[in-house]
Amino acid sequence: MDRKTFIRNCGKTCLGMITISTTLQGCSWSQQLTMPINGNNVMHVPVSAFLYLDDKKKEAYKRFIVVRNERLNYPIVIYRNSVGEFNALLLRCSHQYNELSVSGELLTCPAHGSEFNSSGEVVNGPAEDKLRTLLVTIESKHLLIHLS
Ligand code: FES
Repeated sequence: MDRKTFIRNCGKTCLGMITISTTLQGCSWSQQLTMPINGNNVMHVPVSAFLYLDDKKKEAYKRFIVVRNERLNYPIVIYRNSVGEFNALLLRCSHQYNELSVSGELLTCPAHGSEFNSSGEVVNGPAEDKLRTLLVTIESKHLLIHLS
């Protein structure tokens, strides 16, 4: 193998490794966690569910997590806005009730293209109504997501 071919192959290998790394990191952010719901229709989510190790192996907090339970027809996204401040949204499009997908701060509907921000407000239609917001309280080291 000549020098030029060797350098070209190294470049392709590096590009492939970066792509795989980026893809895997994306998966870890979009992972859905199953959480229990008690008899009072409250979902319990440990605050530690937001923790991860950053590139320097230090604990950091995810901006959001997605949780679900078999009793719910739609998953829930929970945003961590600051220490002790969270908001939760049901991932059900307000247009025709399709399940939304989460892309960071933007919630998108694959059915007709509506988009919502992390507060649940409509950014782009055809949806006109805000997403359903769920009350979040904190008890000890758990978030309590009130479903009714
Ligand atoms: S169901 Fe979401 S935009 Fe129509």
